Amino acid sequence: MFETLQEKAASLGDRRIEDLFADEGRAAAFSLTALGMLFDYSKTQLDEAILGELLGLAEKAGVAARRDAMFAGAKINETEGRAVLHTALRNLEARPVEVDGADVMPGVLDTLSRMESLAAELRDSDVRDVVNIGIGGSDLGPAMGVLALAPYHDGPRCHFVSNVDGADIADTLKHCDPERTVFIVASKTFTTIETMTNAATAKAWLAGQGVSGEGKFIALSSNVEKAGAFGIPPERVFGFEDWVGGRYSMWGPIGLSLMIAVGPADFRAFLAGAQAMDRHFVEAPLAENMPVLLALVGIWHNQGLGHATRAVLPYDNRLARFPAYLQQMEMESNGKGVAMDGTPLAYNSGPVVWGEPGTNGQHAFYQLIHQGTRVIPCEFMIAAEGHEPDLAHHHDLLVANCLAQSEALMRGRSLDEARGKVTGKFEGDELERQARHRVFPGNRPSTTLVYQKMDPETLGKLIALYEHRVFVEGVMLNINSYDQWGVELGKELATALGPMVTGEEPVTGKDGSTAQLIGFVQGMRG
Ligand code: F6P
Repeated sequence: MFETLQEKAASLGDRRIEDLFADEGRAAAFSLTALGMLFDYSKTQLDEAILGELLGLAEKAGVAARRDAMFAGAKINETEGRAVLHTALRNLEARPVEVDGADVMPGVLDTLSRMESLAAELRDSDVRDVVNIGIGGSDLGPAMGVLALAPYHDGPRCHFVSNVDGADIADTLKHCDPERTVFIVASKTFTTIETMTNAATAKAWLAGQGVSGEGKFIALSSNVEKAGAFGIPPERVFGFEDWVGGRYSMWGPIGLSLMIAVGPADFRAFLAGAQAMDRHFVEAPLAENMPVLLALVGIWHNQGLGHATRAVLPYDNRLARFPAYLQQMEMESNGKGVAMDGTPLAYNSGPVVWGEPGTNGQHAFYQLIHQGTRVIPCEFMIAAEGHEPDLAHHHDLLVANCLAQSEALMRGRSLDEARGKVTGKFEGDELERQARHRVFPGNRPSTTLVYQKMDPETLGKLIALYEHRVFVEGVMLNINSYDQWGVELGKELATALGPMVTGEEPVTGKDGSTAQLIGFVQGMRG
């Protein structure tokens, strides 16, 4: 499938990316401006021929047809027999979208308006703290969004409890007044052990402080029955359908904490941004389609050149949680070992995604990105403007650093240049040795996305851009991006191990290492 791409990669030899800029039109030709954003992928080895091959692969994989099937409500999540319709949650014009012959939009809009009423009510009340209890897709999206949109946050404080480690909820509750706190139990299935354990602890905490749990809990779930059994009345339950995957769910009820934080109008702007990206994804030809181009760069680096990871490096401190959010979106979606038909993949699955905001990362792991022996394609993102007009000089420095990194990665520093740096300080063999430590190989690829300012609409566009990128890569890899069977085994084993850890059950059927670890923990606990 990717053989021609790999051949093209192998034939690059020692071609330098910077030399491609001898063509003065390169920067413009290998960039795309859409929806007020610039996506520059010119600092990569992509050329006309490679791009042509990638576009051919996208066409051959049926990206456009599959995309249209997704938007039309076809059950493209074939292993679970489900449609994939998170896009319906931001279909603000309510264009009909049918699943099994029924339009889902009346239900979507009804839930949105119920969310808006509740958010308005809470924002007007004396509630000071909102605690979202959820994990994975029921946590990462709203937690990332609340931080990203901090300048728009004018509602109650929002906290996010996800980990079953009691430290998480204990540290959070220290800041909360039981009379003025509301808990949102966010769980698509309402069975996730971490979330159920934390929700029960929250209930016990209220009771322990002599405060009734009535009116203090809200549920966001597809499992209305289980939410009811937990004691949350139907009017405080916000449901969503099985066609919204957990990691794609922040556009609907799972986004309630974000809506409470920034208000319904800004939440609608967030949805509108995503909807604009949806339209672009559906309408733009593949060669001028931002999610498609982002995906093609990803396929080139992963399947063509064999780079196993990619770094997402937002030069936007409030996007600190964006890499973690993308890790779930990308790795839970495209980290699959079999093709759609169940046969083993004959090529690599999606890459490892990781990152941290700049400039912090520069003082931590960029050393390896610049001089390590493995190439790590980098995806930079930067706002033209910050939210702190009085601190514009900070933002200038931020932009300069972001641009400097992509330039340094591409240019590198030759041995001759390095010698120049140490001449006068060292001599002879020592000069040579010192110079070698200062060589940067360069020729390291990166892309840069520039947007005006991180506002609700831009955040919506950015997330939808990556969602569709994951979709395109998934189609080209011929995998199901919408199931997550790989999380099951650990859950099953943890359930079985629980009583062995507490000593309620003997340790049987375990390998020597696991048995030893249990024994050691038990020994330490006396
Ligand atoms: O374990 C993985 C997972 O199923 C994710 O896909 C999901 O986002 C997360 O757990 C939480 O699930 P739920 O919202 O059902 O509690």
